[in-house]
Amino acid sequence: MEIKAVVGDITKIQVDALVVNLFEEVKQPGGATAAVDKALGGAVSQLIDQGEIKGKLGEVTIIHTLGKLPARIVATAGLGKKEELNLDKVRRVAGDFSRLLRKSNCHRVATVLHGAGTGSIEPEDSAAAITEGSFLGLYNFTRYKKPEYEDLAEILIVEKQQNKLKAMEHGIGNGKIMAEATIIARDMVNEPANQMTPTRMAEIAEETANKYNLELKVLDSRDMESMGMGALLGVASGSSQPPKLITLGYKGNPGSQKTAGFLGKGVTFDSGGISIKPSEGMGEMKDDMAGGAAVMAALAAIARLKCQINVTAIIPAAENLPGGNALKPGDILKAMNGKTIEIISTDAEGRLILADALSYAVKQSLSPLVDLATLTGACRVALGTEYSGLFSNNQRFANAIVKAANKTGEKMWQMPLPEEYKEQNKSLIADIKNTGNRYGGAITAALFLAEFIDDVPWAHIDIAGTASSNKESGYTVKGATGVGVRTLTELALSQANQGGLV
Ligand code: BES
Ligand code: MN
Ligand code: ZN
Repeated sequence: MEIKAVVGDITKIQVDALVVNLFEEVKQPGGATAAVDKALGGAVSQLIDQGEIKGKLGEVTIIHTLGKLPARIVATAGLGKKEELNLDKVRRVAGDFSRLLRKSNCHRVATVLHGAGTGSIEPEDSAAAITEGSFLGLYNFTRYKKPEYEDLAEILIVEKQQNKLKAMEHGIGNGKIMAEATIIARDMVNEPANQMTPTRMAEIAEETANKYNLELKVLDSRDMESMGMGALLGVASGSSQPPKLITLGYKGNPGSQKTAGFLGKGVTFDSGGISIKPSEGMGEMKDDMAGGAAVMAALAAIARLKCQINVTAIIPAAENLPGGNALKPGDILKAMNGKTIEIISTDAEGRLILADALSYAVKQSLSPLVDLATLTGACRVALGTEYSGLFSNNQRFANAIVKAANKTGEKMWQMPLPEEYKEQNKSLIADIKNTGNRYGGAITAALFLAEFIDDVPWAHIDIAGTASSNKESGYTVKGATGVGVRTLTELALSQANQGGLV
């Protein structure tokens, strides 16, 4: 699909469908909506009067033009209350109308620059949001099944004023990069675990490195042994799939000594290991590499956007199975930083592979560090499926992440790292154990990770609740969400503008 910015009169354009918008509680539409209403002999205002169109967010009404306009369909998209409009709502609306028009057999669609008339949203940002929203909302995972509907071929974003064109084109370009990177992550996560093995993840990293001129390094189990990565090796030992520690480096600011580290959990399948999970829903655990996919995809976007910072992505990738050599409860492992870990549950494997990946990042002097991981069911219980849990030892860094997340619409909520709970991770016979007690599981998991970062500014984002969705709404579709890609990219952009990360 193509998205283009065009200068012109939306009522004259030759497309299958025109999309105009409406705010809630507005009886008399203005702007492009008024022009379309007039061409339709007042059909839009009549439907408003009759209470059929309310302008509520997510409401898309299809009106057939029956020859009154060159377009076959006019779709009115509700934007909700005018004073409550924000960029993420524009994304959601774009996802909703795009899917509905695809279902209605439309191929070419023209839309206005939603929200740009309010004064609070810039044309560039609106164009980017429409682009992200429609690409992501139309996303299908088509590798194993034909999509139900034919794709939209083209969306034209139509604006009367010539002077907005450049900004719109810029916004479309950036939005496309964000959406395409998110789609890379979605595709990787939706891929079943028999395909998306650690080896396959390393191959994709290699393809990404070649495409965007990134520096690639893949450690195999021999390298891990010589580096003392006992925790990552321990998790991988129950599977015949060899583990990989993938690093991808981007240097956008060669003059700077500082390089940030973006880490992502890459458990390509989490059966729980010997502490095996119940079989119901176990298939979902192919998503357990969503953090790894997200950091890899974010690097692609960061490189395409030529962000002026240095970032290294680190993805510890392994499969957690209960094979004959598997890690057992009661075993003790030694992580790369020398700390010994008593295994209570082999299902708390994410923190184990991240222990080595974080130690490795610290050893390479990467700073600050942020890790993204489908780490705990407890986080999903605590925050549900809309909010990711954010933990950090550095409030400035946490604030920067929340700010980036607010911009992208990937909601995050900061959680505490209380000293008192560290007690729960204490082991009688090792430096630390890999699970706490029944309560506060997302927190004790984060506190476990904190044992492997020394004093480096660090943030941990638990995406167990947000990495995949079971509903279709806005720009989210069923399956992988690609969460984290846009926020990490936005973080890199914002921090580059401020001359480096923290
Ligand atoms: N990958 C899971 C966490 C998860 C659960 C992600 C549900 C997405 C949805 C993780 O490896 C895990 O199994 N965590 C355990 C930790 C427990 C054994 C302390 C959990 O949350 O039950
Ligand atoms: Mn697990
Ligand atoms: Zn897991």
